[in-house]
Parts: sequence; C-alpha cells; structure tokens
Amino acid sequence: MSLRVEEMAVHFGGVAALADVSFEVEAGRITSMIGPNGAGKTTAFNVITGFLRPLRGRVLYEGDPLTGLKPFQIAERGIVRTFQKTNVFPQTAVLDNVMIGLHLRERAGLAAILLRRRRVREEEATLAALAEEILAFVGLAHRRREPAGALPFGEQRLLELAIALAARPRLLLLDEPASGMNPAEKTAVMGLIRRIREQGVTVFLVEHDMRLVMGISDRVIVLHLGRVIAQGAPGEVQSDPQVISAYLGGR
Ligand SMILES: Nc1ncnc2c1ncn2[C@@H]1O[C@H](COP(=O)(O)OP(=O)(O)OP(=O)(O)O)[C@@H](O)[C@H]1O
Ligand SMILES: [Mg+2]
Repeated sequence: MSLRVEEMAVHFGGVAALADVSFEVEAGRITSMIGPNGAGKTTAFNVITGFLRPLRGRVLYEGDPLTGLKPFQIAERGIVRTFQKTNVFPQTAVLDNVMIGLHLRERAGLAAILLRRRRVREEEATLAALAEEILAFVGLAHRRREPAGALPFGEQRLLELAIALAARPRLLLLDEPASGMNPAEKTAVMGLIRRIREQGVTVFLVEHDMRLVMGISDRVIVLHLGRVIAQGAPGEVQSDPQVISAYLGGR
C-alpha cells in the first residue's frame, strides 16, 4: 500500500467539495481518479500534497499520517505533483527549468557544494547531464535551449512532467497531464506514464480523457459531487450504472 485517504472532508464556505472520501492508491500501480468538472479531484490532490487542510479525515503514506506536514515536507517524502494549470518558468530555457527542479531536490546538498567552490562546476555538469537525461526521457531533448514559454502547450505539459521527475518521486500525482494535447501527444504521454510506472514509481492520475484513463489505469476511482461513487478495474467502472448516469446527467 502506498497512499491511504480516510474519510476526508473539505468544505469551501459551507459547501462540501469532498464528503467522507476514502480510497487507496497501491504501490507500483497506475491509479486514476475521474469525475465530472467540480467533482473534487484537484481538491483531493491539494489535501494529499499539503496545500489544503481538510475539515476531517487523514492521509497516510506508507502507514504514516501526513497530517500537518507542509507541501515541501511531503515532497521530501517522495510525493511529487504537477498542477492542472501549466506551471513552468516561461522565460527560462527548457533545460534550466529541469535544472531548477534538480536544485530544489538537492537543496541541502547545494549549500555544501557552495562551500567547496572548486566542485561547483563539476556538480553543475552532473546536474546538467541528469537534466538532459530526463528531457530525453520525456522526448524534449531537442527543445533544451528554447524558452519554456515558446513551446507548444502539449510540450509545456511534458516539461512539467520532466520537472516533477527531477524531484525523484516515489509517488507521482498528475493533474490532467494530457489536457490541451493533440491525439499523438496523448498517445506519447500514455507510453511515458507506463514507463514511469515500470521504473517503480507509483502513479496517481487525474484525467478527463477516457481513452487515456481506461488504457493505462490498473484501477479507477470515480468521484462525483465530492463522493466516491465507484472504484475498481477500468472495465468494471465503465459499465457501472451510477458512473454512466453521473457523466450523462451532468451535475
Ligand atoms: N479555493 C476554493 N475556494 C472555493 N471553492 C473551491 C476552491 N477550490 C475548489 N472549489 C470548489 O470545490 C469543488 C471541487 O473543485 P475541484 O477543483 O476539486 O474539482 P475538480 O474535480 O478538480 O474539477 P475539474 O475537472 O474541473 O478540474 C468545485 O465546486 C469548486 O468550485
Ligand atoms: Mg481539477
């Protein structure tokens, strides 16, 4: 077991965004959370990653409660997320965006490096090589020198994924990584997410594209109006009458 959410509730001004939500994310697997707009998916991510404090409930990671931890402390545990809204440094070169991600990870190490200035260049070279490797992994090596803001939207999403990978996640939370991508990019991102799992990273995905979700998920959790209405294997969830009516009936 990787992550366990227990009886989570979140209210915004008296309105329940999440009500009594419980689920598990299994280690080494791809788990997806789906649901109509406003179902509470991003809110759940915000609680898990420490950006939002729940009214009730708790989150356990590998058996330990994450309650009260700050986002950076949760990231230090290996829980890394991307955001629904693209979040790169637009004026900065693609490679440097990934380097910043690596530096964040090496924060403690960096101070030590600065004390030994002779090694700085060496360390920079190592980090640059690592950043190049990550860029090649997501298929952006050819863009390394371009400012991130100049990339087409789909490639900016890939860059975000690269920045998240630079933080060396053990549990990776992806909030609509394929939004704004064309069909070819979506197919590529599916392959990429599979390869991330093959490297032993647990993936927790929020995504609207059903072909993508049903194609790569080991398990699917369906949220509707802040509640879990179904969970199971993709095939089970797709044929669940409650799920069908949640999607067809809107809210
Ligand atoms: N900071 C906030 N303040 C007030 N209401 C909020 C806030 N964040 C989310 N909400 C509300 O909580 C509910 C759940 O929102 P959330 O963003 O979690 O949905 P979602 O499932 O991620 O939707 P989408 O698929 O559109 O991204 C919505 O009704 C939303 O308007
Ligand atoms: Mg959302």
